[in-house]
Amino acid sequence: MILKIVKYPDPVLQQPGEPVTEFNGELKKFADDMFETMYASQGIGLAAQQVGVAKRVTVIDLSGGKEPEKKLVLVNPEIIFREGRQYEEEGCLSFPEIREKVVRAQKVRVRAQDLNGKWFEMDGEELLSRAFQHEIDHLDGMLFIFRMSALKRDLNQRKLRKMQREGPW
Ligand code: NI
Repeated sequence: MILKIVKYPDPVLQQPGEPVTEFNGELKKFADDMFETMYASQGIGLAAQQVGVAKRVTVIDLSGGKEPEKKLVLVNPEIIFREGRQYEEEGCLSFPEIREKVVRAQKVRVRAQDLNGKWFEMDGEELLSRAFQHEIDHLDGMLFIFRMSALKRDLNQRKLRKMQREGPW
């Protein structure tokens, strides 16, 4: 089922997610719906807050649905190691048409649970590292515009307000 993607400035986007404690069929269905929703919007990552649910669940697929083994579900994830620096463009499904460079760690290690509650660790570099950091930020209620320089944030917030005034945001 395709869920409705919540857009900025909906307050749920800035709400830290509650930890997941039950690993049941409902959670699996929710993750399936999140993948379906993300693919329908050509995204590579989606956090629960972006479909209006403040829980610590995110899905990532850098292949955009082309390679099933690239599908990642991170439940209750945390970054346990970060290294280096990258400065690349990011977008976010909750901010259509906004793309901006954001400083991130080049490499991170994530610790998370899978849909059965089993803990695992995974390393990501470059784009995957960025996806981990962007999505885990969402779970903390942190948005990429607040990772931009003040100047770029102001410019993008003006652009957002203009789009919200003029179009179907
Ligand atoms: Ni995002």
